[in-house]
Amino acid sequence: MNIAVVSYSYTGNNEALAESVAKELMAKHIKVSVKKPITMGSIVMDMLFSRMPKVLPAPDILRQYDFILFFGPVWMGQAASPLRAYLNELKQNPKPYGFLSISGGADGGNPKLSNELLRRTGKQPSILIDQHIAELISPDNPTSRKETSAYRINKNDVNRLTKAAVERIRQSSLYNL
Ligand SMILES: Cc1cc2nc3c(=O)[nH]c(=O)nc-3n(C[C@H](O)[C@H](O)[C@H](O)COP(=O)(O)O)c2cc1C
Repeated sequence: MNIAVVSYSYTGNNEALAESVAKELMAKHIKVSVKKPITMGSIVMDMLFSRMPKVLPAPDILRQYDFILFFGPVWMGQAASPLRAYLNELKQNPKPYGFLSISGGADGGNPKLSNELLRRTGKQPSILIDQHIAELISPDNPTSRKETSAYRINKNDVNRLTKAAVERIRQSSLYNL
């Protein structure tokens, strides 16, 4: 199966995990870049007004692959806006996909994420992993937004999360097609 790992990352957490998972699966890693610089202001505007930033490479690159694994942060309860054009591409040319994220989780889960993915792609993800930083930092105690925002993934967490993600991906019936 021809797998593409497609990642966008603002502060590096999701990129580090995507890189490691792609290596483990020997999958092509496509790093998304945005034509206009992303700022806190542009993030808020994208989320409030459902804007779709222009990205590179062109989203039709996904046509070359059978299974797409997206990695990116959750912003204001939604998948990071630079992934939108690629999610939209899957609506035009459906294929199985997974969505994996290291998100903050300081305010609880991201309950609207799965519906958003369904709305944007027309299909539920085959794999959805939303790993909260709050759980990584302190599984038993509440964690503040300040703490989750300051977190930068370390080697131990990359290795641990890669193992868990790869196990889930390999268990997926699609992986063995
Ligand atoms: C503007 C903004 C909004 C965010 N909103 C959420 C959110 O709704 N839910 C959540 O779990 N994390 C949220 N986060 C935290 C990020 O998902 C988290 O820091 C993530 O690990 C960043 O990934 P990156 O390093 O790959 O950019 C938000 C971060 C920013 C900057």
